[in-house]
Amino acid sequence: MNTPLASGPLLSRRSALRLTGLGALAAGVAACSNGNGGGATGTPAAPDSSVPLPSGAAFVQPAELVSANGRLEVTLEAAPYMASWNGATRYALAYNGSVPGPTLRARPGDTIRLTLRNGLDQPTNLHTHGLHVSPEGYSDNIFHMIDPGGSLTYEYELPGDHPSGTFWYHPHHHGFVAAQVSGGLAGAIIIEDDIDDSPVMRASTERVLIISDPKIGTDESVLTVTSAEQNNGREGDAALINGVLRPVIDAETGTVERWRIINASSSRYYRLTLSGASMSQIASDHGRFGPIAVGTLLLTPGQRAEVLVSLNEAGTITLSTEAVARGMSMGGGGMGMGGGGMGMGGDALSPAADLLTVVVTGPAGAAPGAGMVTPSLEALDSMVVDAERHISFGAMGMGRGEFVIDGKPFAADRVDADVLFGTTEDWIVTNNSMMPHPFHLHVWPFRVVERSDGSEPDPGWRDTVNIPTGQSVRLRIPFRDFSGTTVYHCHILDHEDLGMMAIIDV
Ligand code: C2O
Ligand code: CU
Ligand code: CU
Repeated sequence: MNTPLASGPLLSRRSALRLTGLGALAAGVAACSNGNGGGATGTPAAPDSSVPLPSGAAFVQPAELVSANGRLEVTLEAAPYMASWNGATRYALAYNGSVPGPTLRARPGDTIRLTLRNGLDQPTNLHTHGLHVSPEGYSDNIFHMIDPGGSLTYEYELPGDHPSGTFWYHPHHHGFVAAQVSGGLAGAIIIEDDIDDSPVMRASTERVLIISDPKIGTDESVLTVTSAEQNNGREGDAALINGVLRPVIDAETGTVERWRIINASSSRYYRLTLSGASMSQIASDHGRFGPIAVGTLLLTPGQRAEVLVSLNEAGTITLSTEAVARGMSMGGGGMGMGGGGMGMGGDALSPAADLLTVVVTGPAGAAPGAGMVTPSLEALDSMVVDAERHISFGAMGMGRGEFVIDGKPFAADRVDADVLFGTTEDWIVTNNSMMPHPFHLHVWPFRVVERSDGSEPDPGWRDTVNIPTGQSVRLRIPFRDFSGTTVYHCHILDHEDLGMMAIIDV
């Protein structure tokens, strides 16, 4: 039956409210159900994808921390954590003992006050990916560093007109980002507004699907990679949804699933497909649109999608990813650098895999239409462009590849893009390397206006966009509401750590 208020989200919201002061406890409980309960006593899977992996465990929704009266107070502790795996455990890095970390749920105009404690043996910090908030002070300022044992309190003030949608948080300390994120340090941020309050949205069963691909092992060696893996962008041993391999959702006919999908993998691309039902997309990175029927859905690291799936008849629905060729990095092989069994050439490939199964039971009957109240999108040609800027992503060097933007590796003391507050710029981002790179800009979302390969520009607002090899993409970026200094970079996080990042000052 289709109840107007789906009981899952409501229940978790209530318990989240009750447990706000006990985030660690709530998160711990959620994480405990990650195992498949198989009771195997053998050693956990080694970092070798030929080892049979557990699957078929129940879908687990991350714990939630929900704002009340305009405020959300959160304490997160980043620390090593042995996550449930195959009846045993695997080494991970976790916020509050939970992989992924708790979901933060707030509304436009709210203030999120977040204290981050560093229980790691290396520096860390926090970035709120996609949020349109100030990059200054103790807001989304990625230039802060928290030493091991230290802590820092951030305060994010969401504008009253912040779009609703799916965002996420993760560490952003240059040089440590890929290892910390692939270790498990990531969580969802949901901003809700009137669209979410509409009956058609409330009637759907909302779920967060954070896709990660950790290396599986029992000690911190899962965080280290060869230089070939680093050049290609590390990929782990299995693609997990909320820390579980191929979880199963039990659902009833006549209901609508609503998934907020986040690619929190360091480097892996997913080209999502659904068999047994169809998907309608209602959001990508930043703000809602549509619904638009989609067959396949490319998600680069950092990108999000919100989709509706109507369950009209009993059966099994599978969410899978097709293989995505990610080209070839310099120094991945051929110069004696082909470590990790990569062989010559260092080809990067994100493999095909099944990610999630929905078992639908009940009599056939049409689910309510997959609809929503569509906000009106600002027309592209009504946006006056004040300046044009050309940015090029490239890779050079042999051995340990040098990853650069406009020929230069990241330097913390150099401003690369000086932008006048209040103007709108078109950025033409070109990729002159042999791999696709996902371009990401903090704080100011953009629209994709045009692609050099002639393919459809993306609907809606984005903060991360794929730039295929040899192609360029025109982005329209209004620099409004906030001034300050932050970064743009490749969201293959190993590339960011290797220098494919630059500073913007607005
Ligand atoms: Cu999700 Cu600068 O990153
Ligand atoms: Cu970001
Ligand atoms: Cu890259």
